[in-house]
Amino acid sequence: MGAGSLPGGGVRTGTMGRLEVSNVSKCFGANRAVDGVSFVAEAGRITGLIGPNGAGKTTLFNAIAGELSVDGGKVRLDGARIDGLPPYKVFSRGLARTFQIPRPFPGMTVLENVMLVPQGQHGERFWNTWLRPGLVARQEREILERARSIINFCGLSPVERQLAGAISGGQQKLVELARALMADPRILLLDEPGAGVNPALLDTIVERIVELNRRGLTFLIIEHNMDFIMSLCDAIVVMATGKVIAEGPPDSVVAAPQVIEAYLGGAVA
Ligand SMILES: Nc1ncnc2c1ncn2[C@@H]1O[C@H](COP(=O)(O)OP(=O)(O)O)[C@@H](O)[C@H]1O
Ligand SMILES: [Mg+2]
Repeated sequence: MGAGSLPGGGVRTGTMGRLEVSNVSKCFGANRAVDGVSFVAEAGRITGLIGPNGAGKTTLFNAIAGELSVDGGKVRLDGARIDGLPPYKVFSRGLARTFQIPRPFPGMTVLENVMLVPQGQHGERFWNTWLRPGLVARQEREILERARSIINFCGLSPVERQLAGAISGGQQKLVELARALMADPRILLLDEPGAGVNPALLDTIVERIVELNRRGLTFLIIEHNMDFIMSLCDAIVVMATGKVIAEGPPDSVVAAPQVIEAYLGGAVA
């Protein structure tokens, strides 16, 4: 692992992962699910994205990560445009995300799931396999070591040989976190990391987020658990019906009249 790698490496020098969303829109037919959204998730910070169900939060994540094409607007990661790029390119630029509903390969072990993350290893190219088998073997060893260290960091070592489909939903969320960390991202987008997770495991997830952020990783987190949001986030963005209705420091945002109205007026999560 190079300087600043995660986990186990030193603290990053300089902050990366500044995400700038400018006037992004995404429609499903006549439904303006994301409607001219602009905000900045500052580098090195933990930004919360909250709002009633159906506000457009997950759709916005999918648009940022390249899984959905945007109808308009720009997305920049550390100043470089990433809108219009396919998901694997957004990922390789340093933006990783987890899903609201975990998507592990259920028939593979936890370790295999984590090792599967693309590393750009030389072994993918047949001539390297043919000509430089020693190099390929070394890289496989490095990937195994990196996967084990990240699995340990995420508290998953006891279940690393179990099938990913057979562990709890909370543990599957940690597998998603581990997979995201394999790419050594600049920014991590988490979609409801606390949903359906028991309190003990939630504490583990919170601790790991705090530790990763301390080492310089930037976060953008969708979450309904307000204790989680208020204790972790440096800033909060609130969405309702596709639009940003408030943003700023947690205390002032949750007290804003339009935020209270959005939660009381809509489906409370
Ligand atoms: N793939 C889709 N096709 C059509 N409509 C969708 C799709 N995904 C989300 N929507 C709609 O977009 C709106 C925003 O949904 P979503 O982004 O999931 O909200 P949130 O994550 O804030 O609960 C909702 O009205 C939802 O029904
Ligand atoms: Mg959602």
